[in-house]
Amino acid sequence: MDIHKNIFKYKNTFNFETRSSYSGSMSSNIPKIVVTPPGPKAREILERDSKVISPSYVRFYPLVVERGQGSFIYDVDGNVYIDLNSGLGVLNVGHCHPEVVKAIKEQAEKLLHYSNTDFYYEESVKFAEKLVSIAPGSFDKRVFFSNSGTESVEAAIKLARWRTKRQYIIGFIGAFHGRTYGSMSITSSKPVQRAGFSPLVPGIVHVPYPYPYRCPFGASPDEPEECANRTIEFIDEWVLRKFVPPEEVAAIIFEPVQGEGGYILPPKNFIPELRKLADEHGILLIDDEVQAGMGRTGKWWAIQHFGVDPDILTSAKALGGGLPVGATIAKADVMTWPGGSHASTFGGNPVSCASGLATINVIEQDRLVERAAELGEKVKKVLNEWKDHYEIVGDVRGLGLMIGMEIVRDKVSKKKAPDLTREIMIRSWKSGVAVITAGVNVIRIFPPLNIEEEYLFKALDIIRSKIRELS
Ligand SMILES: Cc1ncc(COP(=O)(O)O)c(C=O)c1O
Repeated sequence: MDIHKNIFKYKNTFNFETRSSYSGSMSSNIPKIVVTPPGPKAREILERDSKVISPSYVRFYPLVVERGQGSFIYDVDGNVYIDLNSGLGVLNVGHCHPEVVKAIKEQAEKLLHYSNTDFYYEESVKFAEKLVSIAPGSFDKRVFFSNSGTESVEAAIKLARWRTKRQYIIGFIGAFHGRTYGSMSITSSKPVQRAGFSPLVPGIVHVPYPYPYRCPFGASPDEPEECANRTIEFIDEWVLRKFVPPEEVAAIIFEPVQGEGGYILPPKNFIPELRKLADEHGILLIDDEVQAGMGRTGKWWAIQHFGVDPDILTSAKALGGGLPVGATIAKADVMTWPGGSHASTFGGNPVSCASGLATINVIEQDRLVERAAELGEKVKKVLNEWKDHYEIVGDVRGLGLMIGMEIVRDKVSKKKAPDLTREIMIRSWKSGVAVITAGVNVIRIFPPLNIEEEYLFKALDIIRSKIRELS
């Protein structure tokens, strides 16, 4: 049956209708592995890839994708997988959502490009109007458009320095903000991301992130708020009062849930306390929502779980529904830089803006933010049962459909088990579940927000069977 044509409405189990889970109940044979991946066509492409593509990419495993629909991906050898990573957090409304594709086609026939840096078009204005209406804070905001997450962070740190005329940026150990020079200089989730690239951008200071399961300050996992308190105390006492003059700090940049660092959810009091500390010293707060934003965590923006408004917010990944676009959204009285001070030829491309607007409309119409919250709770319940049952499942954490499961040798030593984590990922993939890791020992669950419940739990069952095999 042609899944592309079989777009249907279904009543899900959340007491509200969603129109966009369209990959289909007719696909009960999915996942489907017809040849052990990588199959012959995949191997041929991998061979060619190895000759012409930069070897610097990450490449979790040799999956060669031909097409995607809803929550399913099809490889070049005819295998069909359930996608639990949403194309690295981009496809919150699923692969090739018909309304997103329609918006792209319509816009592509009208205007592909006309540098928003130098002229005007309505698509970027419409998209910015929508974004400021859903971004946190009841104050006036402005949007700077770029093409990626790293560029949205570059814009944020340039803006913070420009606006405050201060030099220092405080970032967190374990953070990932991108790979261009400014964002890479703050990124600190794996040494390979920085090794060999120095000298980095000066003026960046790193501090520990409150990681309740492994608090860097020794607080017990049963007292997460204590971990946050000790982190704030450290920044205040040992950084701002010892060697970084607070009046020279432009911004503190943080992920509201650390993504690449291991899906680490900070304690509830952490971001409010960070806000207070920043306010005390006139420091701007930059909230990097590139991975956690756009409804993923069960609110439009993860920071909304903490009751705090940032001064600057960065977004990309899911923002364009599959097309590249980045946005740096700031308080209007922060984003006052003059014409020519920062710009990008392609930023806010009209096709990406149309795609982004359509994506937001789908999320709103199908109540996918609420769905992420409810479905995420169900997933966490299941994973917590695994935690009670399997010695190697050490911790389960997350918000909405941004969930991490930490794999350890055993619960007493809590020793990280990267080999087992990788094995769970690879075996799951070979059985038809595209799932990836975060940090070195965390399985991350971040499916499209409109994934059919049946397939989500089918995929989790497959992962569970791998955990059982390895326990
Ligand atoms: C929180 C966060 N910020 C920034 C980035 C960089 O985004 P991009 O790869 O689009 O440059 C990422 C990418 O994973 C991210 O997770």
